[in-house]
Parts: sequence; C-alpha cells; structure tokens
Amino acid sequence: MSKTESKESATDKKDLNQFEQHYFNSYDHYGIHEEMLQDTVRTLSYRNAIIQNKDMFKDKIVLDVGCGTGILSMFAAKHGAKHVIGVDMSSIIEMARKIVDINGFSDKITLLRGKLEDVEIPFPKVDIIISEWMGYFLLYESMLDTVLYARDRYLIEGGLIFPDKCSLHIAGLEDSQYKHEKLSYWQDVYGFDYSPFVPLVMDEPIVDTVDAHLVNTTRCKLIEFDLNTVQLSDLSFKVPFKVEAKKQDWINGVICWFDIVFPAPKGQRPVEFSTGAHAPYTHWKQTVFYLKDDLEAEKGDILKGKLICSPNANNNRDLDIKIQYEFKATGVDAADRSVKNENKYLMH
Ligand SMILES: C[S@@+](CC[C@H](N)C(=O)[O-])C[C@H]1O[C@@H](n2cnc3c(N)ncnc32)[C@H](O)[C@@H]1O
Repeated sequence: MSKTESKESATDKKDLNQFEQHYFNSYDHYGIHEEMLQDTVRTLSYRNAIIQNKDMFKDKIVLDVGCGTGILSMFAAKHGAKHVIGVDMSSIIEMARKIVDINGFSDKITLLRGKLEDVEIPFPKVDIIISEWMGYFLLYESMLDTVLYARDRYLIEGGLIFPDKCSLHIAGLEDSQYKHEKLSYWQDVYGFDYSPFVPLVMDEPIVDTVDAHLVNTTRCKLIEFDLNTVQLSDLSFKVPFKVEAKKQDWINGVICWFDIVFPAPKGQRPVEFSTGAHAPYTHWKQTVFYLKDDLEAEKGDILKGKLICSPNANNNRDLDIKIQYEFKATGVDAADRSVKNENKYLMH
C-alpha cells in the first residue's frame, strides 16, 4: 500500500491480522462487485425497499456500511436522502468515488475509507443504516458484527436498518450421485488409496445451486434475527430442527438458506427475498451439509436434531457448525433405518 493510500484510510491495513487483510483484499477486485451488482434479486430488493420507503429516506442522514462500489449509497441519495456516508475498508471505494462523482452525487455522498469501527463519521448520529452484509449461510464473513457496531454507535433511537429481519432455514436433500462421486473419488486416485481426504470433504459445507426437486422433506426455520435488537452473543447459537420426509427417498444431507426482509411503511407488504432452492437464483446459492449417513427415508419419517453455530476461534469470519441428528424411521424395518449421529463442519 502506498503512503498516500494508508494516510487516506482510517485503518492501516498493516495493522490488521492476516485473516482481516485477506478478507478486505478479497473485496479489492472489481469481479466480486460485478457478481453482486449483477445479482438482480439482491440489488433490486435494496432499490425497491428504498423506493417503497422514500418518505422515510426524505431528508435523512444515511450510513451505508460496507459501501463497495457505492450502489446502495446512490440509491439512497437518488431517492431522497439528505446525505449519505459510505464506508469501506477495501480499495474498491476508490472506484466508488469515481462512480459517485460521474453520476453527480459528490455533494450528497461522502465516502470514507477504513474499517467502520475506525472511521470518524461527520455526523454524530444517523437516521438510517443500509448494508449488504450477508455471507454464505447468512453469517459467513461475520460482517453483521460491523452492522451491529454501527447501530449501537450511530443509529438514532427509532432509526431504521435496511434490511432489518433475516432468518435461516433447513431441509433434507437427496444428492446421492454427487455426494458419492465426490467421496468415492478419494478411494482410488491413480490406483492409490487417498481415503484420508474423505473426512476433510465431509467437514466442508458446499455452496452451490440445488435443484428444488432434490429437496425432499418439509422445511424448518432454524433461527431469525431482528437487526433492531439482536446482540452479538445471539450470533452463536444452538437451535433445534425437525423436518418430515415427503416421499420414499434417500436423504444424504441437509440444505440451508436464508430469507431477508426490509422495513415497510405501515400496512404495506415488505420487500423480501429468499435464497432458497425454491426461489430465483442469487449469488449466495444454497449451502449443503452432507450427513455421515445416507438415510433411507419413507414418507413421514422424521429427521430432527440440533444445529450449533459460532464464529471460529482462530478466524472469526469462518464458522464452526455442528449438526447433531436423529433419524426416526417408522414401520417394520424402523430399527434398521433409524440413525443418530453428528458431524462437525468448518465454513471457510
Ligand atoms: C457484500 S459487500 C457489499 C458492497 C455494496 N454495499 C453492494 O451492495 O454492492 C460488503 C462490503 O463491505 C466492506 N466491509 C466489510 N466489513 C467492513 C468494515 N468493518 N468496515 C468497512 N468496510 C467493510 C467490504 O470491503 C465490502 O466491500
């Protein structure tokens, strides 16, 4: 980093640990922002929510936490905000400055480089916080921590957060072919036994798009967060789940996804979107956790258990996830098909 850059940033990258440096470097390149901008479900939901609430934005001071290319700041400025402060630690903010300038918003948007936790914002309080902080499996990247910091430090009493509600969901999944291809590959690699890799494959959740017809159980809401009130400690949790097989099929793993809801004017339907397999594509796709067992399900069988999630102690942007599960089969062969087990995962 050049001297000028480090002087311009409230945070000197050299002071950040290797994980933080890596994290912010990942947002330096335009490619990741292109992917996010092109995710129309994501980006248009923010725009629609701001337009739906334009009376709330009128003449308000708005803080855009992690402004990236400045898209949300410009939506807010275009639809009535008095002033928007966009903060980002990554060098992409230098592009945001150009974009904001050529689109004629320089007098309405102030862009500050640095970690939100380190910058000095030119207003003691803000009326509204906007942020696109969601990671895979909702909480990966732990950027919600920064939004909660911004809320507690800057948001006026009764101020709004866009979005303000989110929830995580789970269901059973038939994925025999892909799972077995992925695992059996390691049994014979050019004639050698590579099976010690199998547990590593099992311990990693897979982020991918899943065909909705492969989801073969009812779905269950694991947890929901209200951003107006949620505390940092709530982001480590142990929650129960229970789903029911919809047909005779294998259950090889579980699929998780999240839903997002924005504030809405009284009496109006809020803007919301889902990242589930049943919903239109988003760049968050879905997250698949393979179970140690392939469960032989009959319609009506129950898969229940607990999902335990917390930031990883070594790198808090990673997630430690454990799924304890109990499959309760019914019928004459119930004892043979019933299983109780658990698997640990690291999302990194
Ligand atoms: C998911 S991107 C969203 C970018 C933009 N708001 C958009 O919607 O296209 C999150 C951005 O937040 C920034 N960010 C994450 N944590 C931050 C922090 N603590 N302080 C400043 N910027 C942060 C990242 O550098 C990244 O550019």
